[in-house]
Amino acid sequence: MPFRERYTGLINRYRDRLPVHDDTRIISLGEGNTPLIRLNNIPGIIGKDVDIYVKYEGLNPTGSFKDRGMTMAVTKAVEEGSRAIICASTGNTSAAAAAYAARAGITAFVLIPEGKIAMGKLAQAMMHGSVVIQIKGNFDDGMRLVKEVAEEAPVTIVNSINPYRLQGQKTAAFEIVEELGRAPDYHCLPVGNAGNITAHWIGYCEYSSASGDHVTEACAFCHGQCRYAGGAIVGNRPKMVGYQAAGSAPFMRGAMVDNPDTVATAIRIGHPQSWDMAWKVKDESGGWFDECSDAEILATQKLLAENEGVFCEPASATSLAGALNDINTGKIPEGSSIVCTLTGHGLKDPDTAIKQSTAPMLTVEATLDSVKTAILDNMS
Ligand code: F0G
Repeated sequence: MPFRERYTGLINRYRDRLPVHDDTRIISLGEGNTPLIRLNNIPGIIGKDVDIYVKYEGLNPTGSFKDRGMTMAVTKAVEEGSRAIICASTGNTSAAAAAYAARAGITAFVLIPEGKIAMGKLAQAMMHGSVVIQIKGNFDDGMRLVKEVAEEAPVTIVNSINPYRLQGQKTAAFEIVEELGRAPDYHCLPVGNAGNITAHWIGYCEYSSASGDHVTEACAFCHGQCRYAGGAIVGNRPKMVGYQAAGSAPFMRGAMVDNPDTVATAIRIGHPQSWDMAWKVKDESGGWFDECSDAEILATQKLLAENEGVFCEPASATSLAGALNDINTGKIPEGSSIVCTLTGHGLKDPDTAIKQSTAPMLTVEATLDSVKTAILDNMS
């Protein structure tokens, strides 16, 4: 007899709120159920009385939040008889698609921008046996090609335009509400295609409605995947705040950006697929969009790693970088509760981390004396 019920992934955990049947074969790697870590040191460092939590999505099986969507998308693709999936990706979607396809025994084709994805992500796509197609273009070119190819070949698209993806990803909001006992006042996310911010809003809306269902406006986002309609709002919902990298910030420009660029390669996207939905999320929730410079993103990634022991990839640090800016200006007032999603693990992009690291790295003789000296010289 086990001491407690074995956790077997988010579809089993939330199956009454997800589009699966009793006999659906679930393709899972035990995703979801990620830690919500309260920041103990950073509020003191910035001198503000705020309750900040980070939802550490980097602890999903392939190291990013994409696993939440991919378990749903691949489960449904297999249920519908698909033998192959395809995606364009800045790296994390391809890693997740490759892993879940391997688990399901089907083929994954992944289109990635040549030279612009982090090493860890490339290693994952290759290791899981997907067919990696590097294109001499950016993510937006890849997305266009994937849509065109899927019209002519028997492949299922598993980018977030696949509505099952958002259904899986909404469960992160469920976990947060269950853990805090209420929704936070603000939920901050990095925004690329804007699928994840939309998915979280669907989740919060469903959770807060009287029947456990979603609200009418947000219904438009689920493409008929939710089971219910209507429902009065009984619980609180957060203001949704989306932060972009300054070089890839179409939501700030109010228009698509043709040549996006940022050190946060995961969100190097100029033509977001969930453009209309994300504007609705902002308006409905009373939130906003803002942007962070690459320098702010990297400084926040380091701040978090050095002061809280949490290592996320650059794109993920955008949520906290933006939140800290808004806390400093008072736009997010003191006394607020804030959740920042850390979308991917820091190990995804070791090159960027090592390049910006300033921690002392000493090389000494293998003797007690030299090691002792190195320690005594660096005692703080
Ligand atoms: N953070 C990380 C680490 C990501 O990989 C992504 C998206 C985002 C944030 C943005 O999420 O697109 O839902 O607004 N990565 C996609 C990919 C595009 O291909 O892995 P979004």
